[in-house]
Amino acid sequence: MSLNRVSSGIKELDKMIGGGFPEGDIILYSGPPGTGKTIACLHFIVDGLKKGENCIYISSEETRGKILEHAKLLGLDFDGAIKKRKLEIFQVEDIAFQDPLGRRSKLPREPEQRMERLTATIRRWMEKYNGKRLVVDSLMAYAINEPLNQKALLNSEMFRELDSLGMTTILVSELPAGTPAYSQDGITEIMADGIILFGHEIKGGRGYKTLEVVKMRDTKVTDEIRYFDIATGGIRFIKS
Ligand SMILES: Nc1ncnc2c1ncn2[C@@H]1O[C@H](COP(=O)(O)OP(=O)(O)OP(=O)(O)O)[C@@H](O)[C@H]1O
Ligand SMILES: [Mg+2]
Repeated sequence: MSLNRVSSGIKELDKMIGGGFPEGDIILYSGPPGTGKTIACLHFIVDGLKKGENCIYISSEETRGKILEHAKLLGLDFDGAIKKRKLEIFQVEDIAFQDPLGRRSKLPREPEQRMERLTATIRRWMEKYNGKRLVVDSLMAYAINEPLNQKALLNSEMFRELDSLGMTTILVSELPAGTPAYSQDGITEIMADGIILFGHEIKGGRGYKTLEVVKMRDTKVTDEIRYFDIATGGIRFIKS
């Protein structure tokens, strides 16, 4: 049985992963700050909207306005999609202040409850609007001040919950520069169906953004590292 592939929205990346992500998989976009993870996620959303698939974007670091601005860089106006309920952009802080019925309430003290609110909101939206694609940018939002073992536990619970939704999902993991692992909790990278590593490299006196496929379930991947830059239209690969 051949797998249905869901495009990453980045043609060159699709070629590196047999045409796209296996449908319904959870993929980790991992890398240090400023390496293009958010822009890569927006390509995934743009592609989904073009194909008429409903998308949900959970943002922690960036405001909704900033995300919309980034989208304009890719030449897409998300306002129309939001009005038509084809796309929803949630900020983690807003969700944390909503009770399970979406009413405004106090911020729960326990990170478990904040995580449950997040997954409940995603599930509600997905069921209502038949969501197909999900981005969580980034993972640590609801557990930022928790110790590592607590983060690992919370993220593995969230992972199972998101997996049960069946949407094709990108989770973004911020890495301090030079970290050997692919996520801060050390567990998400094991649970993820695929890992794309974003980075930065200096070569011939200038810096390049880099992209590498570390793993992809049911897919033959190569070890090549690809170089890219970001301009109008988004990610642009550089011939190497
Ligand atoms: N209009 C633009 N033209 C050229 N490059 C841009 C433009 N907008 C953003 N960039 C580049 O994109 C980078 C940011 O990309 P992005 O926000 O996707 O990174 P990120 O990996 O998500 O970062 P963080 O971990 O901080 O969220 C900037 O550092 C900048 O180099
Ligand atoms: Mg980002």
